[in-house]
This record gives sequence, C-alpha cells and structure tokens, in this order.
Amino acid sequence: MSHVEEIKEKLSVEDVLGSYLKLEKAGASFKALCPFHHEKTASFFISPARGTYYCFGCGMKGDIFSFVEEFEGVDFKGALKILAEKAGVKIVFENPKLKSEKDRLFACLEEATTFFSETLNREENGKIREYLKGRGLTPETILEWHIGFAPLDWHPVHSYLKQKGYTDSEIEKAGLIKRAEASHEKGVRFYDRFRGRIMFPINDSSGRVIGFSGRIFQDDGKSAKYINSPETELYLKSSVLFGLDKAKSAIRQEGEIILVEGQMDIILSHQAGVRNTVALSGTAFTESHAKIIHRFSNRLILAFDPDSAGVKAARRSAVIALREGLEVKAALLPSGVDPADYILHNSKKWKDILANSVNIVHFSLAQILSSTAQKSNLPNEIKENIFPFLYPLGSSMERSQYIQEIAKKTGISENAIIEDYRKAERSYEPEGETGNQGVIREKKLEEKSHRNLVERRIYGILLWQNSLGAPSIDVKRVEETLKNIIGAPGFEKMTDFFAPNKNELASEAEVLYNTANTAEDLEELFMHLEQDYLKGNLAIEIEKLSLAEKNTDKDQIAEILKRCKELGERIQKLVTK
Ligand code: CTP
Ligand code: MN
Repeated sequence: MSHVEEIKEKLSVEDVLGSYLKLEKAGASFKALCPFHHEKTASFFISPARGTYYCFGCGMKGDIFSFVEEFEGVDFKGALKILAEKAGVKIVFENPKLKSEKDRLFACLEEATTFFSETLNREENGKIREYLKGRGLTPETILEWHIGFAPLDWHPVHSYLKQKGYTDSEIEKAGLIKRAEASHEKGVRFYDRFRGRIMFPINDSSGRVIGFSGRIFQDDGKSAKYINSPETELYLKSSVLFGLDKAKSAIRQEGEIILVEGQMDIILSHQAGVRNTVALSGTAFTESHAKIIHRFSNRLILAFDPDSAGVKAARRSAVIALREGLEVKAALLPSGVDPADYILHNSKKWKDILANSVNIVHFSLAQILSSTAQKSNLPNEIKENIFPFLYPLGSSMERSQYIQEIAKKTGISENAIIEDYRKAERSYEPEGETGNQGVIREKKLEEKSHRNLVERRIYGILLWQNSLGAPSIDVKRVEETLKNIIGAPGFEKMTDFFAPNKNELASEAEVLYNTANTAEDLEELFMHLEQDYLKGNLAIEIEKLSLAEKNTDKDQIAEILKRCKELGERIQKLVTK
C-alpha cells in the first residue's frame, strides 16, 4: 500500500477538513463555508463516501491532500508530511541520491540548520548564548526554534555543505552562498551569505526549513541588522508567515491571530504562552498573507512596533486585511517599547496588552489626534489615514458609526465628513483581484452561459447514478427523456462538453440530490429543461419572424406564427402543471 493510500485509510475527509473548518451535516454529506473564497452561505460540500470536497461557489475540489496543499499553501510533499503526522504513518524517504532537486534543497537547508545550531553551542560562542539569554530566550526556546549562529567568516557554511555532498549550484539555489565579483583567473567564487549572524530558520507551514533570517551579532554600523534568504524555489516571501507552522493549531483554537514584525517579537510571544502569534520578519504584508490568515481565522491583531514606521506598516497592513474581510485590531504598547522589549520585562502582562487591543479605526484615530499638532491638518489626515479603512467595510451602518465617532473626537461636523467621504469614495479604486480567484470565477461564468445549468444537473445525476452498483432511478429512461428534449445531436454535444468534468458533475449531483426524492427532483429538473428549450426555440422563431417580415414572405410568416403559437401553448402547459 502506498503512503497516500495508507493515510487515506486512516483519515476520513470529514475528520481532516473538520479540523480546519466548521462542518455542518447536510444529508449524507457535510457542508461548510468555503475557505477559498468569500461567502456568507455554505456552498462547500464534503462527500464522506467519495472522500472528496467540492465548492459550488468557486469550483475548488479534490481530496484531503489537495485540500491541505491549498489550505496550508504547501506542495504535495508538505501535505504528505502534515497528513502522515496526523495519521501516525511513518514516511520512509527514498535513497537521498534519488531525491528530486527540490528535496535536495530542503535537505541542504536542514543540514545548514544543524550546522548553525552546532556552531551556536561551540565553546567559543558563549557570548552569543549570553546575548540570547539577555534577550530573554530560554534554552528550550532556542532548541524549539532551532536558533543558531553563522560564524563570522567567508566560507564555513559553503565548506560544510560541500563536504556533505551538495554542489555549488544547490547551495546557491538554497540561498546560502553568493557569487563573488567575477575574478577571471579563478572562475566563479562563492562566499557565505550569512556571516557573524544569529540564525533563525524560516519554515513553511508543514515545518520544513525554506530559508533563514540572520541578525547581526556585532553591529559594525554598516551592515543591515537583519538579512533574509533571497527568494528561492522554496521561499516565496509574499506568502510565508514566520512561525505559522508552530502557531496554526493555537490560531484555530483561539480563533484569533496575532501578527508581529520581528523574530524576537514572535519567539518571545510564544515563550510567554501566546502561541497564536506569527511574524512578518522583514517582508511587507500582502494580500496573499491576508488570504492565508483568513483560512485559519477572521480576527487579526496587529502588534507592531509603536514607532512611526510601525504605525505606518500597521495601517497599510490593516487596509489589506480589511479588504480581505478580516476584523482588524491593533495592540497598544507603551511608546518606544516593541513586543520583544515589553515581554522581556512584563511577560505576564503580554496577554493583557493583547486583550486590550482596539479596533484599527480607533487606534489610528487616537494616533492621528495625538500626532497632529495643527488642527487644520486633521481633515487631510483623516482622509488619508482613516478613510481607507472605511472603503472595504461591507456594512454602511458600521461605517456611519465610525463617522459619528470621528466627528465626536475631532470636532469636525458629521455632515462635512460624510460629504468628503462620498467624494473620496468615488475616486477610490480598489486594487483588482489577483491570484486565480478572478480567473476561476470567469471560467465558471463562461461555462454556465455556454451550457444550461439544468442540463448540467440532470447529466450529473445520470453520471452519479451510473457510477453506483444499484442506481435508485431508471437510468435508461432518464437518458431517453433527456435525448427527447434536447435531441440526439444536442445530447452528443453535451456529453462532449462535459467530458473533462464528469467526476465533478457526479460529485455535485451526489451532494445535491442524494436524498429520498431524487426521482421527484429529476422530474422538476426535466420540467425546467423543457421550458428552457421551448423558450429558446421560441426566441429563434421570433428571430426568424422578423426576418420573414422584412422580406414580406407571407407564407413563411404564417408558418412561423403557427409554430410560435404551438411553442407558447406548450410553455403555458408546463408552467401550470
Ligand atoms: N528587519 C529586516 N531587515 C532590517 C531590519 C529589520 O528584515 N534591516 C525585520 C526583522 O524581521 C526585524 C523586524 O524587521 O525583526 C523589525 O525590525 P526592528 O524593529 O528594527 O528590529 P527588532 O526586531 O526590534 O530587532 P531586535 O529585537 O533583534 O533587536
Ligand atoms: Mn522591533
């Protein structure tokens, strides 16, 4: 038995998906709010019998593996790792020589992590361990996060990995070495990217190392305080949240996620017992981050540095998060103290700070009021820094409450704010949909207009029932009825059209019609289908009629009118049936 089969045998689709989503029983199936697109009513169906899911809204479909891949943003092997752990299945990896290129990059980064940890523990590096202790990190924490140290030298990492059997090209692709300026006599020369830095491994959500963030140990006044791995095949900055692998179960439990800026902030937050914390770690917050967060929870607390850069980053991130439909709050920290500093001295009170977070509009408003010295600048500040939070709000009542509040706190008249808001809103252009969401939606629309939805349903029932050993309806008769209505050539065209999506159609039909009255549902579908066809034919006749009228072809006109009358009567009969 393959690993995949073994895992599928141990884990049911409803258990796996149920650990991510709130499922509701729906006949023999389950339904939930789709985690892959916005929706208010559930159109995401799970079929325990088939071990699959399908969303009517956005078309996402698949099994437990594809679900974990999509939801957690990992590749197939990442999903395998997550599900194997859940199922208690041990995965034996193949001979390292036969590993794919990607697997070798993962292994190379893993080796580097070991190297950095061992280096940190060397006797001569006591000063670095002392420093980490001074920042409040316990030895357990250092182990848990695999914190390490990269020696202040040009080639130690490179040499170590070469000796472990990795090629220059692999080590470079892993983002660990850089090319030196071309020196002609000696060919390409490399040097270590991270030198004299405290190393924090960056993991994907299944816990595999995909890159590093390195903090300078001895500040030379020239180098950046932090440097990160470059984007590589494994490390896509815009869609990685630092620490998500360690935070995700707590995020689900708490129904809330805390976002901080730095490595020290997140690690100390976890150490202080707030395990639902993730960090940006030197990347800007993106729509893709917001989407990942939204799959796990819809409540976000921003706990950024309380300096002007942090406040600006918080506002920018909040707008993106609000657009994604998240509820956004911000934590209030004493001035000049970032989360890491705060936790170092007040570890016990960190939870209170988070519990006292305020809605981002209130946060920003207070910020503006305290930092804007000239009252005449207030309207502009509000337009620039508060209105962007109001545009994405779905509820006008909520918006109007905020506007009332702004009026009260600033002393500007409510009407004036409303007027300015209306003007600003008109010229506001939300950034277009990115990713494949838009494409999927367009494709669905196109499909629907091409082929009648009713046809799809009936044919789906036919496919589903045909796949059963003992169909609950007379499959032959249904097929005949269908052919009668749409004609044999129409039937052929339809089967061709749906051929690539047969499974999808069958799943869809199963979740929709797996009830005691499948036959009645079919009856009704047929009625709709016939009506649609008659109406379609009527429209064609009317088109012909106008042509015949132009040509004043009296015989033809009479004939068409007769057919129209017939069609009209048949439609009437169906409607009143
Ligand atoms: N950062 C970065 N590159 C820099 C500076 C900062 O990627 N040149 C990222 C790091 O992830 C850092 C975060 O931005 O943790 C916040 O920056 P800052 O507040 O300046 O650093 P601290 O986290 O306070 O640094 P530390 O606690 O390590 O002293
Ligand atoms: Mn900081």
